[in-house]
Amino acid sequence: MAIKITWHGHATFSLDINGTKIVVDPFFAGNNPAAKTSANEVAADFILQTHGHADHIADTVPLGKRTNAQVVANFEICTWINKQGHENTHPMNTGGGWNFPFGRVKMTPALHSSGLPDGSYGGDPGGYIVTADGKNIYIAGDTALFSDMSLIGRVGLDLAILPIGDNFTMGPDDALLALEYLKPKVVIPCHYNTWPLIAADADAWAERVAAETDTKPVVLGVDESYILE
Ligand code: NI
Ligand code: MN
Repeated sequence: MAIKITWHGHATFSLDINGTKIVVDPFFAGNNPAAKTSANEVAADFILQTHGHADHIADTVPLGKRTNAQVVANFEICTWINKQGHENTHPMNTGGGWNFPFGRVKMTPALHSSGLPDGSYGGDPGGYIVTADGKNIYIAGDTALFSDMSLIGRVGLDLAILPIGDNFTMGPDDALLALEYLKPKVVIPCHYNTWPLIAADADAWAERVAAETDTKPVVLGVDESYILE
């Protein structure tokens, strides 16, 4: 039993949890300049949507329609996705959790915004704690540093996926501070180097994580995977 986490570039990940495929924030080749994989090549049983920005949702509706994956998102984003012709959604909101067949998903706060690509109101941005196979995985989404991350860390995190690209989200310094609150066993950085506005040196950041915290940094290349076991 293990969970396989694959980074597709930017903030897009695939989680394989005992055969269940979960895609986080679908933004694939054709839309995502950092991605190598197209949304047409990806398997999905569920889609976890952190917020409504195009660099997280551009491929959600086409991927959802092709695979009939259930999209987990806040209520407003689910309503918007339904209007695009994809009915299989599961609405949640900040602080709530639900037991899915593959594990429990809890929606966490994020300090960001969430407008949808066509200007529709996208509710509040969020992140997720995924509890499955005896592991707790925190997907921060796009967020600033906030001290309530210490409450998120209380569950005992096996893995945290954090943005480090600065400008739109936490930068490297704040992401390092976030680790003091979250205390995950492993951290994977994301949301960097997709465009010059979010350029960051992930290897340099990982060296600081290794030197200054008890967390193990894992820097993935595009379409590389990490096995959490
Ligand atoms: Ni965003
Ligand atoms: Mn973003």
